[in-house]
Amino acid sequence: MDTKNMNTKAKKHYAVITGASSGIGKEFAKKLSEEGYRLVLVARRRERLEELASSLKTECKIITADLGRLEECEKLCKELEGLSVGIFINNAGFGDCSYFLEGDEAKEMEMIDVNVKAVHFLTKRILQKMTAQGGGYLLNVASSAGLMPAGPYMATYYATKSYVASLTRAIAQELKEKKNPVYIGALCPGPVDTEFNQVANASFALPGISPKDCVDYALKEMKKKKVIIVPSLAIKGAAAGAKIFPTDLVVKLASYQQKKKRQDL
Ligand SMILES: NC(=O)c1ccc[n+]([C@@H]2O[C@H](COP(=O)([O-])OP(=O)(O)OC[C@H]3O[C@@H](n4cnc5c(N)ncnc54)[C@H](OP(=O)(O)O)[C@@H]3O)[C@@H](O)[C@H]2O)c1
Repeated sequence: MDTKNMNTKAKKHYAVITGASSGIGKEFAKKLSEEGYRLVLVARRRERLEELASSLKTECKIITADLGRLEECEKLCKELEGLSVGIFINNAGFGDCSYFLEGDEAKEMEMIDVNVKAVHFLTKRILQKMTAQGGGYLLNVASSAGLMPAGPYMATYYATKSYVASLTRAIAQELKEKKNPVYIGALCPGPVDTEFNQVANASFALPGISPKDCVDYALKEMKKKKVIIVPSLAIKGAAAGAKIFPTDLVVKLASYQQKKKRQDL
């Protein structure tokens, strides 16, 4: 673990961001550093994390980890043992756009490892840690996909994000009933302009919002302790529609939208 950019004005608690080497995670790092948090930046691409750390004003610890491997999630938790974690952004994740029967099986298994197993494992460990600390904020980056009944042609991705949204809602209720002061929430954005599409072999059917707008909104709502955070009005409308309209129709519409993401589907 390396330490860079020591700053005496930094806050006492750390903000930990997984998937900080790109997109939404990188933006969380920038914003939380501006707010004075000392950071722990996590991802596989070390040089990207180093470049980011050198551009930020608060202390940054860099942890390279492949979160698709449970032992590396365990290693991350060990590295955090001596630190007070005020905010944990469980953000690392990716998608894939394909006809399910032809989709890359290894990529799908890895997606389940990163989007579901790592998120689950880190959620439990970090909530235990925050409970022992007496407080903290844990934000799971799900997706608007997690608020839909299903997403044909991105079937695995939608299923992983539904898992995250469901898990988060359930835990939030448990914490409330147990009068546990620790916050948990799920960020559920629609399209955001990041490297997501490149990794997912897709192009958005709808215009994306900027990572900055997404993160500014997410942090504002997180501080109000909102459990499900949906950054844009259009996506809020789509999520509301998914609850009102018949499920079959919503799945058909989702299929229509997803097919626009790849010409060959
Ligand atoms: N962009 C969107 O439209 C959108 C919408 C809704 C939700 N989301 C969610 O937002 C989160 C961030 O995605 P993004 O849009 O910012 O995409 P991105 O630009 O591709 O960033 C993904 C981040 O996840 C990290 N990551 C992926 N696999 C990893 C692994 N095995 N171990 C550690 N880190 C890993 C990547 O780091 P390395 O490659 O360096 O490891 C990268 O920092 C994801 O959970 C995604 O599902 C995105």
